[in-house]
Amino acid sequence: MDASLIYPQVDYNNYANYSPNKPVKLAVMASGNGSNFEVIAQAISAGKLNAEITVLIYNNRQAKAAMRAKNWGVKTVFINHRDYQIREELDQEIVNILQIHDVEIVVMAGWMRIVTQVLIDAFPRRIINIHPSLLPSFKGARAVEQALAAGVKITGCTVHLVSVEVDSGEILIQAAVPVFPNDSYESLHARIQVQEHRILPLAIDLLTKDK
Ligand code: GAR
Repeated sequence: MDASLIYPQVDYNNYANYSPNKPVKLAVMASGNGSNFEVIAQAISAGKLNAEITVLIYNNRQAKAAMRAKNWGVKTVFINHRDYQIREELDQEIVNILQIHDVEIVVMAGWMRIVTQVLIDAFPRRIINIHPSLLPSFKGARAVEQALAAGVKITGCTVHLVSVEVDSGEILIQAAVPVFPNDSYESLHARIQVQEHRILPLAIDLLTKDK
């Protein structure tokens, strides 16, 4: 066991419905670069995750995540949040897309929109988010900048279940990252992302076995 990561105690033998042969259907929701999408796809391809990504939902035409998905042969769906008057309408459309694709677990990997009960109720305890801080510190937008401004010496990243209150759902896995005196946003975020890329596939793996 890697001592730098904190895992929940899960006894996989207790999950009677777990079928090692049936890949879990994932959706990834992303707004930007998609490096976390990439590591999920790599983990699946390497046989480390018994899953398949059935759809990538993105809300920014420029999102590199969409290009990455296409390179992996993963279906992409663009959804323009500006087309919806209220968040609930947007979330209902997202639920429709997820259900059409038989999605079992939803991974928010750099999804920069607040979600509502409409989405959460459709996938109870099955939506996770990766956040670039050690929650409950530095919730919301610009978490890396918040950590730098606060002068903390240790920050990190968190994978948590998504709840209506932003960045407040049950924590699944965290990893710590040192902050160095000369860190910029870029240098610190890059160090955090190395850890994100470790813990996100691990968190998905935990959930896929917790059926
Ligand atoms: C990640 O650092 C993730 O923690 C952050 O966006 C980045 C996406 O990176 N998410 C948030 O800030 C959510 N509040 P990626 O596009 O390379 O996967």
